[in-house]
Amino acid sequence: MTTHASPSLIATLPGRAYTDPEVFRLEQERIFEALWFCAVRSADLARPGAFRTVQIGRESVIVTRDRAGELRAFLNSCRHRGARLCTEESGEVRRSLQCPYHAWTYDLDGRLVAAPNLASMPDVDRTAYGLVRVALREWLGYAWVCLAAEPPSFEETVIGAAVERLGDAASIERYRTEELALGRRITYDVRANWKLIVENFMECYHCATIHPELTEVLPEFAEGYAAQYYVGHGAEFGEGIKGFTVDGSAGFARLPRLAEEQDNRYYAITVKPTVFVNLVPDHVILHRMFPLAEDRTVVECDWLYAPEVVADGADVSRSVELFHRVNVQDFDACERTQPGMASRAYRDGGVLVPSEHHIGIFHAWVRDLLAAGSGDRSADLA
Ligand code: FES
Ligand code: FE
Repeated sequence: MTTHASPSLIATLPGRAYTDPEVFRLEQERIFEALWFCAVRSADLARPGAFRTVQIGRESVIVTRDRAGELRAFLNSCRHRGARLCTEESGEVRRSLQCPYHAWTYDLDGRLVAAPNLASMPDVDRTAYGLVRVALREWLGYAWVCLAAEPPSFEETVIGAAVERLGDAASIERYRTEELALGRRITYDVRANWKLIVENFMECYHCATIHPELTEVLPEFAEGYAAQYYVGHGAEFGEGIKGFTVDGSAGFARLPRLAEEQDNRYYAITVKPTVFVNLVPDHVILHRMFPLAEDRTVVECDWLYAPEVVADGADVSRSVELFHRVNVQDFDACERTQPGMASRAYRDGGVLVPSEHHIGIFHAWVRDLLAAGSGDRSADLA
């Protein structure tokens, strides 16, 4: 590691942390398959039989709603000879999930209910051949799943991120995100490592350079200090700014349960590893990342509004446009950075300025998880 004489500058991860397929494989195993992963918006699976498949680490996972109305998650792999059960990204089945290979058929709660000639094999215990279940929790109106045999505490690792950032659990609950309706969803296919996207979200040193519209609405962002650096602090709207919109014009009515001090402010929360929550008075913007390769991350971004805003067909375009521009500006910056990670100039990494030093905590978090329980040299990102 390069030693930096100045205490102002601390080292980043080395370049290969962003380019080495072996590092990405370890991240799949020790981060995405080990922690809670925000998979699907619950309301996307409104009816029993609706399903969505998501890639989590090296596994494909089916999330579906059973006939009792509960969300369930299963490994997308048939218990007969392992064929992928659902090949579509999303869809709806009537009563059961049937494997397209030899037609083993599973109830929506995962039980094996039928298979050709099963009746002539009376010794087969059907309960032993159900789909493999994956842990699932709902929070903020999303299904979070965890592939670990013993999932870490949801309260500490997921809800804890909001508590750490906002100072308490009540502040985020007041947005009632689970009751909001989807106004817009935009999916971005970003040619960059997922960690570059997290790091970028964590700092605002770049805001003055690349986010003209955002710094107009949130003038303190132009100073470069990310609001999320200070516990409980929300960035205040600028003078004359009426709403979190691309031109500062008025948005919609304030969400009904917000506290007075949450009005006219923007709060950002990073829920590691793959979720960003953005809170403003009249909507919530939630990013879910799906890291697919060391240099490719799909980001699904949802704009969520009070149900009546969406039901009335209100024009959400000016409010969507603000953060859509921010997303494009950020993801362009990440894509410009990705090739630099492979340059010999970045072999030992780069540096973080003081307003970015908290990114060092994220780097230590990644390092510790990758090194956990291994004598594996490739996990050593020092
Ligand atoms: Fe699924 Fe044979 S592999 S029924
Ligand atoms: Fe940004």
